[in-house]
Amino acid sequence: MKQQRGRAVARPLFFAYDRPVAELSQIVIVPAGEGDVSAIKELLTSASLPTAGVDEHWQTFLVARDADRLIACGGAEAYPTAALIRSIAVDPAYRSHGLGRRLVRQLLDRLASRGLREFYLLTTTAEGYFARRGFKTIDRDEVHPQLLASRELQDACPASATCMRLVMLT
Ligand SMILES: CC(C)(COP(=O)(O)OP(=O)(O)OC[C@H]1O[C@@H](n2cnc3c(N)ncnc32)[C@H](O)[C@@H]1OP(=O)(O)O)[C@@H](O)C(=O)NCCC(=O)NCCS
Repeated sequence: MKQQRGRAVARPLFFAYDRPVAELSQIVIVPAGEGDVSAIKELLTSASLPTAGVDEHWQTFLVARDADRLIACGGAEAYPTAALIRSIAVDPAYRSHGLGRRLVRQLLDRLASRGLREFYLLTTTAEGYFARRGFKTIDRDEVHPQLLASRELQDACPASATCMRLVMLT
């Protein structure tokens, strides 16, 4: 990693694991545009995450790009007083450099700035990941009733998915 730090040439994607962390930390996370929707769905599908509801909720999504390539996304379904955090995915070549953490933090910050304090998510594979970030596992019947409108909750995520909640202090 060290000896590559000074190289000025752009490295192709298959060298992405060798990128210095500092370089990845410069990748900015921005609100998604309508033109990102198909790339978001591709990333979600490749990460085995549901795409149902993305068309309705893409405006809450944040994305990260490396040049023209969409490398990470995360979204939310915001209801009056609670939100479902969903579709957190990082391209495998860019994982473990903090992009997922930054995405979740920025999503929560944006929702909190709108007055939301109660956040839920469903996961089949990343319970440990979110538990390390303060989410607690709950029973599905503890989900805020406002979220029952969510397609992800209704039918896209398997009934066996773990449900988690984070309540922010005001
Ligand atoms: C989960 C995910 C978003 C994490 O993104 P990331 O950018 O690699 O994560 P970060 O860099 O913020 O954090 C990396 C740390 O989390 C850990 N981690 C990553 N995925 C994990 C998982 N599924 N379960 C538990 N821990 C996990 C890594 O081992 C690493 O640990 P370390 O800090 O001790 O080395 C990414 O692995 C992913 O896209 N997974 C597939 C889709 C998915 O399951 N999404 C969540 C459901 S909404």
